[in-house]
Amino acid sequence: MAAQGSTVTIKQPNETIQQTKIQSRIFYSNFGTGFSADGNRDENGVLSVSNKKLEASKYPEWLPTWDPKTYPKLESFEFVDKGLFADPEYKNIFPPEKRNSIEVNDISPLLGTEIRGIQLSELDDSGKNDLARLVAERGVLVFRDQDLKDKGLEFNKKLGEYFGPLHIHQTSGAPRDYPEFHIVYKKSDEPITKFQYNDRLSGKNWHSDVSYELHPPGITFLVLLEGPKTGGDTLFADGVEAYERLSPHFKEFLKGVTCCHSGFTQANLSKEQGSYTRREPVAHNHPIVRTHPVTGKKSLYISGNFVTHINGLKLEESDLILNFLKNYIASGYDFQIRAKWEEGTVAIWDNRRVIHAATFDWRGVTGRHLFRITPQAERPYDTD
Ligand SMILES: [Fe+2]
Repeated sequence: MAAQGSTVTIKQPNETIQQTKIQSRIFYSNFGTGFSADGNRDENGVLSVSNKKLEASKYPEWLPTWDPKTYPKLESFEFVDKGLFADPEYKNIFPPEKRNSIEVNDISPLLGTEIRGIQLSELDDSGKNDLARLVAERGVLVFRDQDLKDKGLEFNKKLGEYFGPLHIHQTSGAPRDYPEFHIVYKKSDEPITKFQYNDRLSGKNWHSDVSYELHPPGITFLVLLEGPKTGGDTLFADGVEAYERLSPHFKEFLKGVTCCHSGFTQANLSKEQGSYTRREPVAHNHPIVRTHPVTGKKSLYISGNFVTHINGLKLEESDLILNFLKNYIASGYDFQIRAKWEEGTVAIWDNRRVIHAATFDWRGVTGRHLFRITPQAERPYDTD
């Protein structure tokens, strides 16, 4: 008890909680919308980054803009994976006469390969077919010393279109008149921790990109334009190995099970941040285990915060299973790899097979600036 006459400070929670605060707490750290406009809005309503950032950028044509132009709903289409036309010995991407000058090192026995001595920009169609198969077989490819960053917007768009219709993101910033590119642009003089660590201890958002779409992506390219000397690694977990390790009983339980993948929260957050959405948001049910059209292998298809629930289960049951699977993916260090970025790096992964996570650990004056090419693939399916 306080002594008579002394002052006691009584600590009580605020009585009024604003709705936006609640939403921020729940959503901001969990969903990236790619919104970082701090520049002008032009006469067409296009938002951009500040002139200061424009002047400081080595790749201004790749800086993000946010255009209010809207797009129709994405339609279903027939998809044929280019990996089905590959040479099983990869003679087109690794020609025998050039083997001595190509370095191929597996990052782990099961997942990921680092490659030097090939220019992705020089691959012909048969080389691209081999690339599609190789990424399916290895899950992640990390190519060094690449020149795609200097090849311009049109070149990179054509490269991506070879593999499938390019996805246009529902919210993220894109180079002016090129909505097909998803731009990652984070400067370290911005409070990057505002989104990531104000209300949580670790990023922990393991996901497969835009899994809420009817035809989520397969092969996916991420090209570094500018980045810090160290930090910003991308983590990948192998959905095939994660599935394989489950017990026969649990695999049996997952047969025929579907999850709801929703883009609604990301779209709503974008509007809340003062940005746009390019399409009406969607949600789709996808099998929790999907089969790869090239390898025939099954993988766990769990996508972080896009997955809202498992169909057919009651709330507590769904939460229990989803939490188990998400924690299993996040903690499975023996089926994960960590890809480091350096100047000229292009990482390519198969979003059908791997689940990935970004790290926001870099400091200093340099930001990160990357572009993603995201061809859509088949509608996810499972086989018996
Ligand atoms: Fe991602």
